[in-house]
Amino acid sequence: MKAGLIGLGAIGAMHFKNISEGKIDGLELAGVFDERPPAPEKFPGAKIYKSLCEMFSDPDVDAVIIATPSFSHFELAKAALEAGKHALVEKPIALASADARELVKIAKDCGKICAVMLNQRTTPIYARIRELVASGELGRVNRASWFMTNWYRPQIYFSSSPWRGTWKGEAGGALINQSIHNIDIFTWIFGLPDTLRAWCKFGKYHDIEVEDEATACMEYAGGMTATFATCTGEFPGSNRFEIACDKGFLRAENGELFISRFESVADYTMNTKYMFGTPECVEITEKFDGNGEQHVGVLKNFVAAADCDGRLDFSAEEGYNSVCLANAMLLSAWTKSDVSFPFDDEKYARILSEKMRASKLRENPDTDFILDFQKSFR
Ligand SMILES: NC(=O)c1ccc[n+]([C@@H]2O[C@H](COP(=O)([O-])OP(=O)(O)OC[C@H]3O[C@@H](n4cnc5c(N)ncnc54)[C@H](O)[C@@H]3O)[C@@H](O)[C@H]2O)c1
Repeated sequence: MKAGLIGLGAIGAMHFKNISEGKIDGLELAGVFDERPPAPEKFPGAKIYKSLCEMFSDPDVDAVIIATPSFSHFELAKAALEAGKHALVEKPIALASADARELVKIAKDCGKICAVMLNQRTTPIYARIRELVASGELGRVNRASWFMTNWYRPQIYFSSSPWRGTWKGEAGGALINQSIHNIDIFTWIFGLPDTLRAWCKFGKYHDIEVEDEATACMEYAGGMTATFATCTGEFPGSNRFEIACDKGFLRAENGELFISRFESVADYTMNTKYMFGTPECVEITEKFDGNGEQHVGVLKNFVAAADCDGRLDFSAEEGYNSVCLANAMLLSAWTKSDVSFPFDDEKYARILSEKMRASKLRENPDTDFILDFQKSFR
């Protein structure tokens, strides 16, 4: 596969490096494009396209990788698919769930694949949690809670690009940008809830328009309840994920997964044997080193799936779920009310477009120094 890379900022430069170093078998760069023409010495050996049109009409380009600011993902992915290219879009796949749904349809109609960079699915501890829940060996899930508040970002992170922290630039903050990875893992494991209520704080810790703190309570079909909280202003914050099941309990924290399995119990809450006591448990702690293949793993899967050589694990459909949940949380906070699924995405789009109309991209972002600085906050 030969790919055109669009957007050469913090994450685009990383994709460039990974591909140029040959880390993804079967993937080569056809060339790159950024609306701010890049210095050729920073992208050695790469063909630099003069326009998107030139890239999209190049028959050598089989696929495009879109690493531009979030507000441009939908339009660029749509244009790439319609030009007959496969598309891999950085997260979030789109800012609004209706757009994400449209991309799924366009990809099907064009017979091309549309993938999204949900790289945290390759993190071994999350894959293991999903496997344990999906196997059913711990029984029915009663309750889940994920406090993922260690997404601390200093003000300069937001001041560094024109689009960050603005409604116009990214249609949200902690939910659609940083935590979209965790929201994706959450929907990957549990799917979408029936209903939720969320509370968000906008510019509580930073000089930004969008939310830098969010807390949501959810109820699932079958009775599972869940809480999710995220924050980009708290320090040091924590990352603690708990899942309470009929036949066991999971807690993930600091790269360790604590697993408690209840011995020979169908349902300990119903079993009179335990009316006056607690279940007998087998407890183990699994330790996980490293974060897995991350972006390289997603790119490998994309290449294999485009070659019809494997299943696409990071599809636009998967990207849709996380955008849907993040949008619903914002809608609930804006309207101070419960939101049920499928939620009213037209109402969401209406309120968002009012906010976008009143929003302004930053005029004088500190760019060069900051581009290096951002790399440490990927
Ligand atoms: N998956 C991850 O781990 C991860 C990490 C960081 C960022 N991201 C996502 O990647 C995207 C980019 O983030 P970043 O930190 O690299 O941003 P950035 O501001 O550092 O870089 C964006 C680049 O895109 C260029 N650009 C803007 N509009 C363009 C257009 N229409 N055509 C061509 N080039 C255009 C800009 O000139 C800039 O060079 C965001 O959507 C972000 O959410 C993902």
